[in-house]
Amino acid sequence: MGTAAQKKKLFVKTWGCQMNVYDSQRMADVLAPLGYATSETPEDADMVILNTCHIREKATDKVFSDLGRIRPHKTAKAERGEKMLIAVAGCVAQAEGDFILERAPYVDMVFGPQTYHELPEMVARVQDAAGEKRIVNTEFPTVSKFDLLPVEQGVHGPSAFLSVQEGCDKFCTFCVVPYTRGSEYSRPVNAVLDEAKRLIDSGVQEITLLGQNVNAYHGEGSDGAIWGLGRLIRALADIKGLHRIRYTTSHPRDMDDDLIAAHGEIRQLMPFLHLPVQSGSDKILHAMNRKHKAELYFDVIARLRAARPDIAFSSDFIVGFPGESDTDFEDTLKLVDTVKFASAYSFKYSARPGTPAAVMKGLVHPKIAEERLARLQSLITGQQLAFNQSFVGQTMPVLFERLGKKQGQIQGRSPYNQSVYIEAASENLGWIKNVLIQEGFDNSLRGILA
Ligand code: SAH
Ligand code: SF4
Ligand code: F3S
Repeated sequence: MGTAAQKKKLFVKTWGCQMNVYDSQRMADVLAPLGYATSETPEDADMVILNTCHIREKATDKVFSDLGRIRPHKTAKAERGEKMLIAVAGCVAQAEGDFILERAPYVDMVFGPQTYHELPEMVARVQDAAGEKRIVNTEFPTVSKFDLLPVEQGVHGPSAFLSVQEGCDKFCTFCVVPYTRGSEYSRPVNAVLDEAKRLIDSGVQEITLLGQNVNAYHGEGSDGAIWGLGRLIRALADIKGLHRIRYTTSHPRDMDDDLIAAHGEIRQLMPFLHLPVQSGSDKILHAMNRKHKAELYFDVIARLRAARPDIAFSSDFIVGFPGESDTDFEDTLKLVDTVKFASAYSFKYSARPGTPAAVMKGLVHPKIAEERLARLQSLITGQQLAFNQSFVGQTMPVLFERLGKKQGQIQGRSPYNQSVYIEAASENLGWIKNVLIQEGFDNSLRGILA
């Protein structure tokens, strides 16, 4: 057993959405006072946390195959008389709970996204029992974890995530999030502003506000009033040193007038919005319980474009939802063709146990779903390429975040969240620099310092 002075190694692997990335960082923050420092590899870690995603079947399967790969490291450590705690966190933990302990007897702890502030106590409990006690914690505590988590202390690059809202009350019929994350909760305005100031003081220039339904944000302001996301963004923009603001993920129904106006007025708010629509067919949107028609989506896009003419959009699509006919799918293609996206993600529908859609009739044959996905993806890739190529010859500000794939390259993000790489010295990392774009590809841009 190590003494408190000795650093213990913590390996965290993260799947799923940006919220999980943020949470993984916060788990490391909670464990730091206990002597845990993050390490890049699981081999000799004292604690391994798999922060999991339950959104589609494939995501869930990955957890068990990864657990299988980590197990021999635990055995090897045990043979040396050392201990490795294995924990499953995140949305699979919340959804599967005890089942994970049953299926993987070498897992010590399973805990859901709302319990991370209880980590020190949970770790103490498993360790006290000399490895015999195993823990499942899938409670939804009445006190928000945000009130109890320590101040974040991780080392950040120039761009950071900040969770402002968590959970979802929308209950789209295909989606597990309302069950794994619980009901909507918005952090108070001051807590958000304080965290933003600390991030900016530590050198962060870009903040992405996170929420499963971030534009449904309704946090309590210091004036006692309830603030929407637009007002929060305006307050953030007043903080000196914050150059870029983004937010994700939004629901089309929650784009209110003030938020749309903010896109026209706030210089720091980037001209790029991820706005998932899922389908272009009113029949399918209804079956998905999205509670709006395609028309509303077109209207929101038009209003945003009126407020900020250079804004670009990305979206999420599901193909092969139960009951989706050829015509419904054509409507999705039409929507994509009309809007012209800068990028988009598309997925084959995956039935999730316990969701209303999982028992719907009219299953789409996997082969047909596959064909539709390929058609949609090729349409989207074409739009993405056209969008990226439209910047050739133009200069754009890029926030450089990391070394590129090849030696001598550095990589960063444009206002439109495009990945841009150039050949330049690493001194440029952490700064926003103007780049002359020379070439546009499906997923990136290449240029030179302007
Ligand atoms: N809160 C966001 C997205 C949450 S999940 C929103 O409201 O849009 C991210 C994306 O995963 C979704 O937009 C959807 O396109 C996809 N997704 C969610 N559940 C899915 C399922 N059961 N099968 C396939 N894709 C799914
Ligand atoms: Fe899931 Fe719908 Fe909530 Fe998004 S809005 S998290 S898709 S239930
Ligand atoms: Fe996955 Fe949970 Fe995020 S299911 S997408 S990690 S909210």
